[in-house]
Amino acid sequence: MRLSRYFLPVLKETPAEAQIASHRLMLRAGMIKQAQAGIYSWLPLGYRVLKKIEAIVHEEQARAGHIPMLMPTLQSAELWRESGRYDAYGPEMLRITDRQGRDMLYGPTNEELITDIFRSHVTSYRDLPMTLYHIQWKFRDEVRPRFGVMRGREFYMKDGYNFDVDRDAALHAYNRHMVSYLRTYERMGLKAIPMRADSGPIGGDDTHEFLVLAETGESEVFYDAAITDLTLGSREVDYASEEECRAIVEEWTAPYARTDETHDAALFEAIPEDRRRTSRGIEVGQIFYFGTKYSEAMGATVTNSKGEVVPVHMGSHGIGVSRLVGAIIEASHDDKGIVWPEGVTPFHCGIVNLRQGDAACDAACEEIEAALEAQGLEPLYDDREERAGAKFATMDLIGLPWRITVGPRGIAAGTVELTSRRTGESEEMSLLAAVDRVAEVYRALP
Ligand SMILES: Nc1ncnc2c1ncn2[C@@H]1O[C@H](COP(=O)(O)OP(=O)(O)OP(=O)(O)O)[C@@H](O)[C@H]1O
Ligand SMILES: [Mg+2]
Repeated sequence: MRLSRYFLPVLKETPAEAQIASHRLMLRAGMIKQAQAGIYSWLPLGYRVLKKIEAIVHEEQARAGHIPMLMPTLQSAELWRESGRYDAYGPEMLRITDRQGRDMLYGPTNEELITDIFRSHVTSYRDLPMTLYHIQWKFRDEVRPRFGVMRGREFYMKDGYNFDVDRDAALHAYNRHMVSYLRTYERMGLKAIPMRADSGPIGGDDTHEFLVLAETGESEVFYDAAITDLTLGSREVDYASEEECRAIVEEWTAPYARTDETHDAALFEAIPEDRRRTSRGIEVGQIFYFGTKYSEAMGATVTNSKGEVVPVHMGSHGIGVSRLVGAIIEASHDDKGIVWPEGVTPFHCGIVNLRQGDAACDAACEEIEAALEAQGLEPLYDDREERAGAKFATMDLIGLPWRITVGPRGIAAGTVELTSRRTGESEEMSLLAAVDRVAEVYRALP
């Protein structure tokens, strides 16, 4: 991509309405534009990150054996009356009437819709286990939309629903989700800690939230520092294995980690003092096991192996895809701008031409661009007629993890400069060595 032909409306001034770094940086880097309170347009750069996050979510769900689909944003009130949630949900639900006077709503979540699909087609335990999910826009008329995409009214969410013949099978689904979520966040360069949580309006008795530690988080969190040492890394997981999933969940839920809603001071005090941490966190996902709450209310049953008709056991599992864009920036930025983790960066590498119009510099930049593309990477080439300082400032603001800088002096000596956004360190090397180094970094990602 050539920056001269791209749409990157960066802002010079810091927008006054933005209270936290991620919101400020998303506006300044031309990633989003507010359409209404809590409702945003995703400009090209923001859209690229959203799609990267979405792709990781899809890949990890596929690995866990969960099946993608797509349900509509608008739902019929009828289904929500069956579950009893139409009246219970309150003013966060956006209620709409069509020209026939039928009550509709913009879905804040999809338990009813998916249960209706399930009960229409599945009748036997032989079709289970089954987990269906989609990534779709949701609407919740939040009292105080704020912090940009972190607490929007319209937001993009992955929500998945497991259907199982009994409690044990459903708990395996719960564990599978926890493991797949841990992998998902790790690939995004995030440390998201599973914390025991309250169930809220979804209802249920087993639930964990995943929290990214950040000063600006809305939840107060209490945890044992030991949990931040855990990583899955490149560990291969057999999602079909109940033992393996359970073991990972046990490992990750053994250290104390809770939000203020479920905090237990006595248990917390029992942790050695040097490991006790109090902080704030951003909720980037939540998993629930709620048993037969919806299946009983809505008549979603299967016959089990003994021929008995039983309500199906369910859980629901969400990832805040659009919130993650803000959460990643909260966790990874500096005073110059965003610092994207390689897993979600909108472009893999920036190319800065210090002497646009100089035949040798232009040719070298084009060669780098082509070589990166040949490696399957997406470079962003700043080919504008701009001062070097302005080009560097833009690259630092939009946070691409790697930058290759091309100038006349280096080209005369056969070198370019490769710079890491994270460390700020630069190294001179040949054009092809720089391309290889960048390609190597991305090849090594899990
Ligand atoms: N208003 C919102 N804007 C952006 N993302 C959201 C919003 N509400 C929820 N999410 C994301 O969707 C995920 C799954 O939804 P869930 O129903 O668990 O949300 P929630 O617990 O109501 O969120 P919160 O407590 O932050 O209001 C959350 O973990 C969060 O990452
Ligand atoms: Mg939640």
